Amino acid sequence: MEKKAYTEFFAQIYDNIMGAVPYKLWFEYIHDILNYYQCKADSVLDLACGTGTMSLLFNDQGYYVTGIDRSQDMLAVAEGKIDKRSNIDFAAADLREFTTVKKYDLAICLFDSLNYILTAKELFEVFNQVFSALNDHGLFIFDMNTITRLMSIKSGTTMFHGEGYSCFWEDIVDQKQERWKVRLKIYLDNRDECYEELHEERGYLISDVISLLQKAGFNKIDVFSAYTFNKGRDNDNRLYYTAFKKAVKMNQFSLAYLFRKMKWRVKSFLSAAK
Ligand SMILES: C[S@@+](CC[C@H](N)C(=O)[O-])C[C@H]1O[C@@H](n2cnc3c(N)ncnc32)[C@H](O)[C@@H]1O
Repeated sequence: MEKKAYTEFFAQIYDNIMGAVPYKLWFEYIHDILNYYQCKADSVLDLACGTGTMSLLFNDQGYYVTGIDRSQDMLAVAEGKIDKRSNIDFAAADLREFTTVKKYDLAICLFDSLNYILTAKELFEVFNQVFSALNDHGLFIFDMNTITRLMSIKSGTTMFHGEGYSCFWEDIVDQKQERWKVRLKIYLDNRDECYEELHEERGYLISDVISLLQKAGFNKIDVFSAYTFNKGRDNDNRLYYTAFKKAVKMNQFSLAYLFRKMKWRVKSFLSAAK
């Protein structure tokens, strides 16, 4: 039987295990993408929001945010982080078949979440739903691990220890099917049982993702090598896609545009040199 992913046991330790994830850098990058396109957003749909870290960062900066995820357990952790002043709603839904009453200026889907969509047909369904959830001037920004990155992961087990838990993280790379699987074995100090999960990701070629976005109706589509404004390639590790609902005009020679390009080129150079 297929093991579930993002159960209550992983949800409880997710933020601790992901403690080093640079969410603030992601937020800054997305903010610069908006500036790069001279695009204004007030409302954000955080798709596969998980424990809501990104939703909260956006909300702290004054955006109205709706976060959706299919794991009730991840959402329960997210709910626990907000207070009465927060302008956030969380809802349980599957990306492949959600609908929204409200329309959003910006939709984001981060941290490999779309790599969990395992067929092109289902990825198209996600794009279709996102297209419907956006305002006419809306923008969809998402990241994806490439096939190159997933297939370069080394099989093996890493152990994580945190307050109250141990977690064995086994990377399994299936080169034939081009799938990266992670088997988690979670031990909580106050329980005798071992809780297991199986995660599965696949990558897509850039040309296939662009075709599916276009088929769903998206117009201006760009692909960047993550945390730069350089054109993304299939042999990069992580890509950021940007897709507008309607075509937008840009002045590629404006100073602001060139400044953003330069800023992230320097940042990526500095982080590669570390
Ligand atoms: C790696 S986590 C990323 C969570 C969050 N975006 C973050 O940056 O921490 C992937 C998330 O995708 C969600 N997910 C995977 N497939 C989904 C689907 N079909 N519909 C909705 N959520 C899904 C999982 O429940 C999980 O919370």
